[in-house]
Amino acid sequence: AGGGEQHIEDIAFSFEGPFGKFDQMQLQRGLQVYTEVCSACHGLKYVPIRTLADEGGPQLPEDQVRAYAAEMSIYDADLDDDRPRTPADKFPESGLETAPDLSLMAKARAGFHGPEGTGINQLVRGMGGAEYIYSILTGYTGKEKEQAGTTFYENTAFPGGWISMAPPLAGEDVEYADGHSTSLHHEAEDVSAFLMWAAEPKMMDRQHSGFVAVLFLTLLSVLLYLTNKRLWAPVK
Ligand code: HEM
Repeated sequence: AGGGEQHIEDIAFSFEGPFGKFDQMQLQRGLQVYTEVCSACHGLKYVPIRTLADEGGPQLPEDQVRAYAAEMSIYDADLDDDRPRTPADKFPESGLETAPDLSLMAKARAGFHGPEGTGINQLVRGMGGAEYIYSILTGYTGKEKEQAGTTFYENTAFPGGWISMAPPLAGEDVEYADGHSTSLHHEAEDVSAFLMWAAEPKMMDRQHSGFVAVLFLTLLSVLLYLTNKRLWAPVK
């Protein structure tokens, strides 16, 4: 580290590829990790709480979404007081000023680059935003240093090699209702998948429309080719 090679692990996430889909149970587990660990410092201020019930997302039942929202309060100018959030509100913003909002983090960072600005790596392996987050969470070497009163932790995925976020996950930080493994790597995968969904909740719809459009255009090309043949047949 310290300017050394940045290491990003390539994970085979369920949502990758043209037919990929978010794994509903994984998103629910990721939401749990986010809620119980990350939200102590980070926010998701652009994500409406109601989207937790959306199809293709964590798809929590409406009553659970209402209960989840009510756990978080928000200042209401009309009441001049705090009130519980409702599903129509967004997630709170970062509580710790130096912790960036995570709403768009999975799209703001790229895990894979190059070679030499051609983007071939991204074409083959994807942008790698979720992989970047996973690699940050699992990339701590255990080394620390003190600089200008701040502690920095050596991390093999963070550009520059030293991050001011203390390792947030160690494994067994949460207890999953579905009995899934809570090893560091599994927790990191789950929360990274959840943050990918948060940043791009309509990924499935987009891929589906793209597929239908290509199918339709292929069919149109065939029809136009045959029409052209037929129109010019008497002239030839
Ligand atoms: C930065 C994720 C928990 C404090 C970051 C970054 C990510 C991230 C992706 C940005 C790295 C970048 O800018 O490229 C997470 C996740 C967490 C979590 C997924 C839960 C599993 C926490 C907690 C704290 C915290 C609990 C506070 C105790 C920070 C700070 C930064 C940061 C201060 C800025 C670091 C820097 O720029 O040097 N986090 N975080 N994070 N996080 Fe977290």
